[in-house]
Amino acid sequence: MPATLEATLIPGDGIGPEIVESTVKVLEAVGAPFRWDVQVAGLEGVRTAGDPLPPRTIDSIKRTRLALKGPLETPSGGGYRSSNVRLREEFKLYANLRPARTLIPGGRFDAVDLIVVRENLEGLYIGHEHYIPIDDDPHAVAIATGVNTRQGSRKILEFAFEHAIAAGRRKVTIVHKANIMKALTGIFLETGLDLYEKRYKGRFELDAVIIDACAMKLVQNPWQFDVLVTTNLFGDILSDLVAGLVGGLGATPGANIGSDASIFEAVHGSAPDIAGKGVANPTALMLAAAMMLDHCRLGAEAQRLRAAIDATLNVDRVRTADFGGHDGTAEYTRAILERLAKP
Ligand code: NAI
Repeated sequence: MPATLEATLIPGDGIGPEIVESTVKVLEAVGAPFRWDVQVAGLEGVRTAGDPLPPRTIDSIKRTRLALKGPLETPSGGGYRSSNVRLREEFKLYANLRPARTLIPGGRFDAVDLIVVRENLEGLYIGHEHYIPIDDDPHAVAIATGVNTRQGSRKILEFAFEHAIAAGRRKVTIVHKANIMKALTGIFLETGLDLYEKRYKGRFELDAVIIDACAMKLVQNPWQFDVLVTTNLFGDILSDLVAGLVGGLGATPGANIGSDASIFEAVHGSAPDIAGKGVANPTALMLAAAMMLDHCRLGAEAQRLRAAIDATLNVDRVRTADFGGHDGTAEYTRAILERLAKP
């Protein structure tokens, strides 16, 4: 194991600082060698540095190429542009990897184990939008531009296919809407089918499904899927749907992987409704930290952390309210630390 690995730490907004504190503690307990460079972004960036993505934060990630990030608040409608989207663009974080696995057996959907691979830089999600004023209505018409490129599609599809092979998965499903958005999502489907035919045929099963049908099928029978790869906006929506299948947003981590850096985070947002109450579930961020450990080739430490989370939830039955329990963030974190302290 390297003596130290420098990494940027962004506590973030809302519940961010609470779940980041818990996650840093469990990382220390597994002996992770991270040396944190703490930086601000989002609302905290605006408050303390007058910028939702201060240059110091960007410089830090440029240097470390590795970050663990709490959720960042983005105002709806007006206000500043999402710092998350800007980070993805700045560091060309083209792949968003979102595994969703049932953590507590016996729920409505048992033994779900899915991976959503979301394209992170293109599509309708990029927020290239404007209004056209008519008469006295400045917002009479709203226009959004979606851009998908052959190169961008190939990159994320290759990432998903390679990840499926490396993780020993049996099937990849391309999720699209090429029947209606024939160009915008047609290019993604066409590129995927072509890539599979030329380079991946026989190494795993490939199928394709339209986004609306996919949403229904996921709720009816999630076990028919394995790895789902899709464009940016569909991936955003599907990963929350899939989070719902495995116990909610508190359960799902995400990795933003790029050419210039990798940033690990929970799928959920800053949960302003429960911020500061000591009830937030840090599991998703802890699982993101486990992905970060895997990424740094610290697989044994990642496994120890996942096993401690599993034992805390299912043997000790210490759980936060969103997982049906009565324990707060601090009690839950303490229970995981106790698990990690056992030989
Ligand atoms: P949210 O994910 O913050 O919250 C949705 C619901 O889930 C809330 O009821 C919340 O209390 C609950 N929840 C979320 N995480 C939880 C946790 N760890 N433990 C227990 N309960 C949890 O979504 P919302 O309210 O739509 O967004 C709030 C803010 O977060 C917005 O400003 C949004 O832009 C931002 N956001 C940031 C993301 C990021 O930084 N990656 C991702 C999604 C949203």
